[in-house]
Amino acid sequence: LNTIAVLTSGGDAPGMNAAIRAVVRTAIYRGLKVKGIKKGYNGLLNEDIIDMEPRHVSDIIQKGGTVLGTARCLEFKRPEYQKKAADICRKHGIDGIVVIGGDGSYRGAQALSRQGINAVGIPGTIDLDIACTDYTIGFDTAVNTAMQAIDKVKDTSSSHERCSIIEVMGRHAGYIALWCGIANGAEDILLPENYDYNEQEIVNHIIESRKRGKIHHLIINAEGIGHSTSMAKRIEAATGVETRATILGYMQRGGSPTATDRYYASIMGARAVDIMLEGKTNRVVGYRYGEFTDFGIEEALMMQKDIDRYQYEVARMLTI
Ligand code: F6P
Repeated sequence: LNTIAVLTSGGDAPGMNAAIRAVVRTAIYRGLKVKGIKKGYNGLLNEDIIDMEPRHVSDIIQKGGTVLGTARCLEFKRPEYQKKAADICRKHGIDGIVVIGGDGSYRGAQALSRQGINAVGIPGTIDLDIACTDYTIGFDTAVNTAMQAIDKVKDTSSSHERCSIIEVMGRHAGYIALWCGIANGAEDILLPENYDYNEQEIVNHIIESRKRGKIHHLIINAEGIGHSTSMAKRIEAATGVETRATILGYMQRGGSPTATDRYYASIMGARAVDIMLEGKTNRVVGYRYGEFTDFGIEEALMMQKDIDRYQYEVARMLTI
């Protein structure tokens, strides 16, 4: 192993910069050369590749976003582009590539590995929806950002004795919604994993909570549920309780990473380089059962993750 490259791909996540920094500095510390690929797989296909030195990653650990830029690259699903990307890696002397991103980015890494380029993934997504790991870089920051925003909405909602619907990120995954649901004490939590929610049950719940003396009602919707604004209108009409929808949106994906995100990102970044140096190929770094570990990309992509029923029920129990 002589030269490795690093890229970030898919939705950005706070802590990606800490991971980039760890990859670059670990590699150089161990005597390797490092290249940075800009704008994800798009940048690789466009040969947007730069040399990285330790000072290039100074002062970025505390910054949100990704200094390398990122993209969702649809072209990369096609075999001819995967082959082209592998050829570009070989042309630039890249022996291994570290991909920081979510499941979609791992599929790109898997494609590169099939084309003979050693690819190692690091879990970077605010959604926490990567099956092989209990932790994904960015989740802690995003969930804390959402929680703080929801606290603020709850203040005004309680003062006006309103019902609030707050939509948090997660098109396919409800972890931010579940965590905020528990951390903010939401009366109802709607997750994409169990989409067949019943609006009449929510209406009944609001009416019955009012009778129990509750002066506000907080509903947390994952983005994948959608329709928060029209839902608010229907709920107001059915309950007679003033109802407002707030969509938190991209503010959840930005901002300075928490200590937890910086810490995990740093260890995972270093580990991605070190497992390559151990001779491991085509792996995904993860954190499971209290330990940093790694899995084969193929195996990682076949694993399934689901919302824990008990944790979902706890949310309900605690809002009586
Ligand atoms: O994967 C992170 C995420 O923020 C999801 O929560 C959300 O559904 C999606 O990305 C939004 O993607 P885009 O940036 O393409 O709008």
